[in-house]
Amino acid sequence: MRTRIVHEGVKHLEYEIRKIVEIGLQMETLGVDMRWENIGDPVAMGEKIEPWIAEIIHELVNQDKSWAYCPSKGVNETREFIASEVNKRGGAQVCADDILFFNGIADAVDKVYDLVHKDNRIIMASPSYPTHSSNEAKRGDYPRVYFRLDPRNNWQPDLEELENKVKYNPQIIGIGLVHPDNPTGMVYSKDALTEIVRIAREHNLFVICDEIYAHITFNGAPVLHLSTVIEDVPALSLRGISKEYPWPGSRCGWIEMLNRHKDPDFSEYCRALVNAKMMEVCSTTLPQMSIPLVMGNPLYPEHLKTRAAIFEKRAQETYDAFKDIPGVIVNRTSGAFYFSLVFKKGALTDKQTLPIKNTEVKSMVEKLVEGVPNDKRFVYYLMGAEGICVTPLCGFFTDLEGFRITYLQADDGIRRNTLSRIADAVKRYLGS
Ligand SMILES: Cc1ncc(COP(=O)(O)O)c(C=O)c1O
Repeated sequence: MRTRIVHEGVKHLEYEIRKIVEIGLQMETLGVDMRWENIGDPVAMGEKIEPWIAEIIHELVNQDKSWAYCPSKGVNETREFIASEVNKRGGAQVCADDILFFNGIADAVDKVYDLVHKDNRIIMASPSYPTHSSNEAKRGDYPRVYFRLDPRNNWQPDLEELENKVKYNPQIIGIGLVHPDNPTGMVYSKDALTEIVRIAREHNLFVICDEIYAHITFNGAPVLHLSTVIEDVPALSLRGISKEYPWPGSRCGWIEMLNRHKDPDFSEYCRALVNAKMMEVCSTTLPQMSIPLVMGNPLYPEHLKTRAAIFEKRAQETYDAFKDIPGVIVNRTSGAFYFSLVFKKGALTDKQTLPIKNTEVKSMVEKLVEGVPNDKRFVYYLMGAEGICVTPLCGFFTDLEGFRITYLQADDGIRRNTLSRIADAVKRYLGS
């Protein structure tokens, strides 16, 4: 090429959750039977689709208009339905025009950061979900700006750090949240969320809140939408159906533009988001058409309640599996379906191993671990020795060492067996 094609920021496009799959697949070719505990797909992990939801989708397939393009912003009736659901919560009020559909939240996230001036920054949590942090970082070639979630305080945010970073970095123009959080399973307390909104208001920032897990809360944590605490601060809430119906293959999610007209810069930004969507014609039609029929169905609240109760039990089971192991920090989670274990400082070294019987896999792992972070080293050994694939915390842009698992496996026997094997491997690895 006459010049280099890509810009500097592309090196920030890292998605460990899927990158680790390539390593796992290689191990499978060498005879390892891998259990995939890295991907947050409830359907792939055996959750059965509710027959009444499947029936609604079947009926929509028979309607020709579900095969057509829809308006660029999204199906009108669906946007009206969502706007009225937002308004019923009693917080910030929106209209159908404030709802904008995408092909999944991941698609929305790409546009949301892409349209922010490259020298402006969105501060987000650490650990952080890579779809947000990589997209944020790739615009320019800047180090990430983050505030810490504290594993010793139930993963609640360090708000002093957040405010100080906002105060002393004038290029920060927004605060990015995932609530409930991936990878920690933490739910922001109402006080924390209100304080974040105050910081945003005082420093003239907007908030981005990924609420894909908003309706998966338990252990006494309420469903807490940003719209109910945001008051007059401009914000984007991101929602979708991937984790709720659940239907991740639908590629369907939307943005709720809150307080869109309260600030001219934010208003211009929202207009740019709409215009960018128009370039793509529209997002997937049929899944959008299903939303008022599924989410507006009298069976839906019960569906959400049943799932939350299931995840509550599994969160407890996961916490119990690790809580007594010396050298680790764990929390009983209250939202989403992820669990992150943190190794205490100094617990990991670059010498620890697990025995791997298969000699080819052993030598593969020995090569892989050269020069990698210590938590990734543990993960590679776990894959080679136990055939269990989890995601190292270093893939979530944090200096904490640890790993994330999901508790999505629907088969109780397999899930419990996997858990106890991971817990046992942690103990052996740490020599406890
Ligand atoms: C926090 C978060 N946001 C977004 C997504 C992707 O959502 P979608 O399927 O709507 O693109 C995920 C997937 O795991 C996620 O964990």
